[in-house]
Amino acid sequence: MDLDRQRAIAWLEQNVSAHRLEHILGVEMMAINLAKIHQLDARQAAQAGLLHDLAKFFPPAKLLDLARQHQLNIDEVCRRVPHLLHADVGAIIAKEEFGVKDPQVLRAIANHTLGQPQMDDLSCVIFLADALEPGRGDSKKLNQLRQTSQEHLLQAVRQVCDMTLKHLVKNNKLIHPRMVQTRNWAFLAARP
Ligand SMILES: [Fe+2]
Ligand SMILES: [Fe+2]
Repeated sequence: MDLDRQRAIAWLEQNVSAHRLEHILGVEMMAINLAKIHQLDARQAAQAGLLHDLAKFFPPAKLLDLARQHQLNIDEVCRRVPHLLHADVGAIIAKEEFGVKDPQVLRAIANHTLGQPQMDDLSCVIFLADALEPGRGDSKKLNQLRQTSQEHLLQAVRQVCDMTLKHLVKNNKLIHPRMVQTRNWAFLAARP
């Protein structure tokens, strides 16, 4: 089924902030670009990009409820930081609210925050676009990562994980083990 982009945007206008909608459109655009560069399906990338943050503004109790209802794994870190569930819950909303059935698109939405070892190229593209879309800023580091994302998906995934992990340590935040697993997978897989 074709996604009604206007309906999705209208839904997002009601459910996320204007700033977040701008980010989402930036992710959609960057995901399309990366998909073309890496010879992936640009329509799948656009769909996952547009729908990746559907649950971004769901309150913690709603995220935990939906996660429980759909038998998602709620570990200790997610219990403490329910916001981490917004990616996996976002995939549920994409399916239920927008009728998305494509498992690759649903996985890419679910993987956009923490990644997943062995995730496919479409998931890598959404993970990278989420971290690197133009609205994230234009530091030298981000621009280097944008360049790498065009040349080598896995190397870019590893570097984005490193950047996020450093940020979490520096700011005294909990680290979800799935992020470490994604980083180690990309670290090993990116090597010849
Ligand atoms: Fe997100
Ligand atoms: Fe996002």
